[in-house]
Amino acid sequence: MADNLAAADARSDTQPTLPYTAIGGAQTVQALAHRFYALVGSDPAYAELRALHGPDLDAIADSLAGFLSGWLGGPRDWFESGRGCIFSLHGAVPIDHRTAGQWADAMARAIAAETRIPPRIAEEMQDKLGRMARAMAPRGETAS
Ligand code: HEM
Repeated sequence: MADNLAAADARSDTQPTLPYTAIGGAQTVQALAHRFYALVGSDPAYAELRALHGPDLDAIADSLAGFLSGWLGGPRDWFESGRGCIFSLHGAVPIDHRTAGQWADAMARAIAAETRIPPRIAEEMQDKLGRMARAMAPRGETAS
């Protein structure tokens, strides 16, 4: 994510703006992750996705913020904490097309609601995170 957007940034040849910086850094990333889990926890459209999680969504939101920070080119503490890759981390979660779609939808809404994220970056984040979530569902399953 960070490399693509940085390379595509025409504002400076020598110091491309990282997406993490362009969206407003830690504050925006924290707000986005918590908005995402607030949606998952409150909208009945995400009931199946919510049911896959334990009671404390706040701690998971903090972890998601850590992931997004490094993924967007910001501080990489989450990646250096030894958690492993995001796909293997979800190995024990029974993800299907339905719940993966709910994840992608809730994230797209959370991103759209975060006005500090410039539209071009918002669109790319929605696309890439949505693809990543859907890629976590088993192959060959019919999308619903
Ligand atoms: C781009 C896609 C996704 C990202 C970046 C992401 C990110 C994360 C992160 C950072 C955590 C916390 C891990 C930890 O600190 O232990 C987490 C946990 C979790 N995620 Fe995701 N996730 C994604 C997709 C999904 C999808 C598609 C589902 C289900 C349909 C899902 C369900 C869960 C569940 C149930 C947990 C809690 C696991 C536990 O209780 O240990 N995630 N996710």
